[in-house]
Amino acid sequence: MTLVSRRTCFIPLAVAASMLAASCNQKKTGNAVGFVQEGDENAWRTAETQSMKSEADKRGVNYSLANAQGDKEKQINDVRSFVVQRVSAIILAPKDESGWEPVLKEARDAKIPVILVDRGVSADPSLYTTLIASDFVQEGQRVAQWLANDTKDQSEVNIVELEGTAGAAPAIDRKKGFDEEIAKHSNMHILASQDGNFTREQGKKVMTNFLLTIGKDKINAVYAHNDDMALGAIQAIEAAGKKPGTDIKVVSIDGIHDGLQAILDGKINCIVECNPMLGQDAFDAVAAAQKGDTLPKHKTEADALFDQKSMTKEILAERKY
Ligand code: AHR
Repeated sequence: MTLVSRRTCFIPLAVAASMLAASCNQKKTGNAVGFVQEGDENAWRTAETQSMKSEADKRGVNYSLANAQGDKEKQINDVRSFVVQRVSAIILAPKDESGWEPVLKEARDAKIPVILVDRGVSADPSLYTTLIASDFVQEGQRVAQWLANDTKDQSEVNIVELEGTAGAAPAIDRKKGFDEEIAKHSNMHILASQDGNFTREQGKKVMTNFLLTIGKDKINAVYAHNDDMALGAIQAIEAAGKKPGTDIKVVSIDGIHDGLQAILDGKINCIVECNPMLGQDAFDAVAAAQKGDTLPKHKTEADALFDQKSMTKEILAERKY
């Protein structure tokens, strides 16, 4: 047996079958746009997935979704599978920043434009067409500035931080923006910081632990990298017999329906929005790339800030996610 045929034997059956199926389908999927979603962890992400589908439907685009359900290896293979199928463009919402170079090179070699949405990657920017996302550093800074102003008369503000998924761009950048801003205020201290994986369940678990180990009377504020973790933290604060929003200030990022409702209920003090409705911008970028236009490497989404002064029932009624 030659070296080549030995190697052929080692191609896993499932991959070979999927490649064969893909090549048989090549004609059918030739004009398709593939959306590679990293997961389904909360309402924000469901809204983003929905936004892609409704934009594709509106434009009559042949659209396929691959959802990795938080599995990074699967997500890389989902991109690879769309490359093998020779789709005309790939929209990618990556789980985390690292490890994307090889599969992005495969897309480039196949001349398939890759549009990144919502999270960036550490790969060479020449390997993707554009990144459409919020400025996560700025989101963290704005939340910190709001909290600093709100607590400026307090001699000591002890904060705990619930971080997003380790290695993900919003977790890295929201921490950077917030922590740097807090460091400018001598009365403010971040006592602990831990991964809550952007989920309500994990946010509650980590906050329960902070309240037990640090002490419920010592914590003055919680900064959650998203609303779902803030909502989990609220459950933990209430279970410990404290009033969220009053005894312990709660600030977060996203602006989902439940988060904004919590502002109206007095349980969250401030939310900086992060827009998940990226379908229109993503498909505009696909169309531009297909025409051969050069796009800016980063399109930044504008985000609003909500607090108990600015939040209204009317804003909540208009919220689509
Ligand atoms: O990448 C954006 C973040 O990912 C959102 O803040 C969060 O809710 C989601 O899981």
